[in-house]
Amino acid sequence: MLPYTLVIEHAAQVLTLAGGPTARPLAGTNLHDWTIIEQGYVACQGDKIVAVGHMADLDLAHITPETRLLDASGCVVMPGLVECHTHLVFGGNRAHEFERKLRGESYLDILASGGGILSTVRATRAATEMELLENALHHLEGFRRYGITTLEAKSGYGLDRDTELRLVRVARAAGRQQPVRVVPTFLGAHVVPPEFKEAGPRAYVDFILREVLSDLKGEAAFVDIFCEQGAFPLEVARYFLEQAHKMGFSLKIHAEQLHDLGGCEMAAALGATSIDHCDYLTPAAAARIAQQTQGQTVAVLLPLVPLFLRQEKYAPAREFINNGLPVALSTDFNPGSCPSKNLWLALSVACLKMGFTPKEAVAAATLNAAWAIGHAADCGSLEPGKRADLLVLNVGSVAEIPYWLGENPVRDVVIAGERV
Ligand code: NIG
Ligand code: FE
Repeated sequence: MLPYTLVIEHAAQVLTLAGGPTARPLAGTNLHDWTIIEQGYVACQGDKIVAVGHMADLDLAHITPETRLLDASGCVVMPGLVECHTHLVFGGNRAHEFERKLRGESYLDILASGGGILSTVRATRAATEMELLENALHHLEGFRRYGITTLEAKSGYGLDRDTELRLVRVARAAGRQQPVRVVPTFLGAHVVPPEFKEAGPRAYVDFILREVLSDLKGEAAFVDIFCEQGAFPLEVARYFLEQAHKMGFSLKIHAEQLHDLGGCEMAAALGATSIDHCDYLTPAAAARIAQQTQGQTVAVLLPLVPLFLRQEKYAPAREFINNGLPVALSTDFNPGSCPSKNLWLALSVACLKMGFTPKEAVAAATLNAAWAIGHAADCGSLEPGKRADLLVLNVGSVAEIPYWLGENPVRDVVIAGERV
C-alpha cells in the first residue's frame, strides 16, 4: 500500500466541487449542488489527489513518518483557482489613460484615438523578450499569492507575426519557470494593427490565417478574436473562427462586451469552448446557446471589467444560470480594462452585481473555469485522480469567501502536491 505524501487535515469545510455531472460544465442548479465535507481531509500521493473525505474516515494505514501533515483546523480547503481569461504578457501600463477615463472618455473613444489596446501594442513591440518574460513572471507570482494554480494567457499586443509568436513563446516559458500552469491562447485578432488600417479587418485575419497560425500548432490550443465595434465585425469573426477551426484550433471569442452584435451565438454555433464577456448577451440568447451546445460552451464572465470601465451594465448571470448556460468567472487581467489580479474580488463583485451565490461563484472560478480552457479532466475540483492543486483559506465557510471584500483569504497554496 503506497503511503500518502501529503494530507491536509481537520478542515472546517472541504469544498470538493464533486457530485455533479462529469461530462460537461456545471449548469443550472448543479452550479451550487456540489458537495461540501465538514471536518474533512484531502490526501495526496505525489502530484495527485488520491482520497477526499471526513476526518473520521481517514485511513491511518496510509500515514507514515514521511507523510507531510498540513493542519487546516478552522479553515476552508478548496481547489486552486483557475484563471481562465487573462492577457498576461504585455509591455508598459495605461495609468495615463485611467485619468482620461476618469474625465469621462469611453474605452472605445480612447481606442479610436490610437490609444487603448494600440498604446499597449506600441509598448509591447518596443519591449525585449527578456523584459516581457520578467513582467509575466512578476504577474504570475502575484497570481500565485492569490491562489491561482492554472492560468490562461492570451497574446494580442503584438499584432504582427514576430511579436505575436514572441508573446506565445513568453507565456510558455513563464509557465515552465514557476509552478503556476500556463495555458496559452492566440489572440492575434485583438484589433486591426495600424499596418492594416487601409486594407481592413478581413485582410488582417487573412494574413494571420496564412502566415501565423501554421506556426502555432502545438504551441497554443485556442484562438480568440475580439468581435466589437472598433475591432472585428461579426462576419469577419465568423470567417476567422471557421478557418481556425478547420486548422485544428479550439475556439474562444470576446463578444457582447460593449454591444450586442451576435458574436456569442455565432461562436457557440461553431463549437466554441468559451464565449467571454457577455455583458450585452440577452437571457434569451443565453438559453438558445445552452440548448444548441447541450451545455458544452461556457460563458466566461468578467465582473471587474464593467467596474473598471465605469459601465452600468453587467452580464445578467442570474438569468444565464437559470436558463441553463454554464458560467465561469475570471479577472480578464490586462493593462486596459482590468489591471487587477484579485479573482477573489471578482467573485465578490459577481455576487453583488451579477446575482451569483457564494457557492456558484466558487464553482465558476474553479471547475467551470477549468472547462473553459479544456482542463476539467485534471483540475478544478478535489477528486481522486486530479492534480493536487489546492488552497487552505483563512476563512471558516464558503459564505465568507466573497464576504471579505477585496481581501486575499489564501493561507497556503499547494500545486501538484507541493506547497509553493
Ligand atoms: O478583454 N476587450 C478586449 N480586450 C481586453 C482589453 C484589452 C485592453 O484594453 O488592453 C478585454 O477587455
Ligand atoms: Fe480579455
